[in-house]
Amino acid sequence: MQTRPLGNTDLQVTPMGLGLAALGRPGYINLGHGDDLAHEYDWKAMETHAHTVLDAAWDSGVRYFDAARSYGKAEAFLSSWLESRGCVDAVVGSKWGYTYTADWQLDAAAHEVKEHSLAVLNRQVKESTALLGPHLKLYQIHSATLESGVLENQEVLTRLAALKETGWCIGLSVSGVQQADVIRRALEIQAGGKLLFDIGQATWNVLECSAGMALQQAHDLGMGIIVKEGLANGRLTDRNTLSEFAEKRTLLMALADKHEMSIDAIALAAVLAQPWVDTVLSGAAQEKHLQANLTAMEVQLDQEDQSLLKLLAEAPEDYWSQRSALAWN
Ligand SMILES: NC(=O)c1ccc[n+]([C@@H]2O[C@H](COP(=O)([O-])OP(=O)(O)OC[C@H]3O[C@@H](n4cnc5c(N)ncnc54)[C@H](OP(=O)(O)O)[C@@H]3O)[C@@H](O)[C@H]2O)c1
Repeated sequence: MQTRPLGNTDLQVTPMGLGLAALGRPGYINLGHGDDLAHEYDWKAMETHAHTVLDAAWDSGVRYFDAARSYGKAEAFLSSWLESRGCVDAVVGSKWGYTYTADWQLDAAAHEVKEHSLAVLNRQVKESTALLGPHLKLYQIHSATLESGVLENQEVLTRLAALKETGWCIGLSVSGVQQADVIRRALEIQAGGKLLFDIGQATWNVLECSAGMALQQAHDLGMGIIVKEGLANGRLTDRNTLSEFAEKRTLLMALADKHEMSIDAIALAAVLAQPWVDTVLSGAAQEKHLQANLTAMEVQLDQEDQSLLKLLAEAPEDYWSQRSALAWN
């Protein structure tokens, strides 16, 4: 897989990366997460499983790996894998702002707690650095929103600028109906005469395309763009058998048959076809799904395919209310 620059940074990433949200902890909101892990939640077994998927990604050429402090032991699993395999040109990004609180339980009252304060930033910088050391190249605010006030918090912004001075790239991830507004606000923040935020990570998939124009604008200004949730947390895969999805599934199946691919590959090819995308994350916890996801790079969607895929878009409010209703499992 060819690498390419992540925006205006020196980081070289592949068009597809691997996200570790589902690999680092027993509980997650993806459809069928428990089945993915074969209900095997012993942390050593989960580490071995994560390493197997990381190996498969590496062998397929994937060079961007995405973690967060709140993804359970994701940073630790990534660290032990990097250590044992010596993968020196892997680009690793992580995130701060949520604290993992599930204590390895599936029925935790709170799986993660959000706090975008200077104290949490300083604590999590230490924790991430202790695990990932020099491999860590990108540190992102986890789910920045306008309401959290993090983009107006001068103490936090000054600290992020100082971290950037040390050589880290600084990013933010966004979620929810206001994704585009948050990205546009981030573009107004400067450090040393340049954009403070080198990278934006956002949700874009054929059901939720509303951030597209803001992401194009950000990319034009030099921000590197990482797309997450390209499969809508598993809703754009074979496993979505909900009756309300049947019509959309039929359309996706027709395109999948035409290209002799799986529907997830079609959905991810639609992301890769966006001119402003630098890397798209696979969120697969199973190797076979990762391999299916990676075949997206072989799909060339024509104009007619792209017009058909536009019919799948949902109103952002509907999309995000369904996203909020996904159960931890
Ligand atoms: N706010 C944030 O910053 C934020 C939020 C969400 C995600 N992220 C990042 O984005 C990454 C990806 O997000 P996501 O996990 O929501 O990803 P996603 O790619 O939208 O969905 C992943 C789900 O799709 C399933 N899947 C994939 N291919 C499949 C196939 N061929 N057949 C059946 N099921 C298939 C996976 O199942 P298996 O698990 O069985 O393989 C998994 O349950 C995360 O790992 C994380 O790094 C960031």
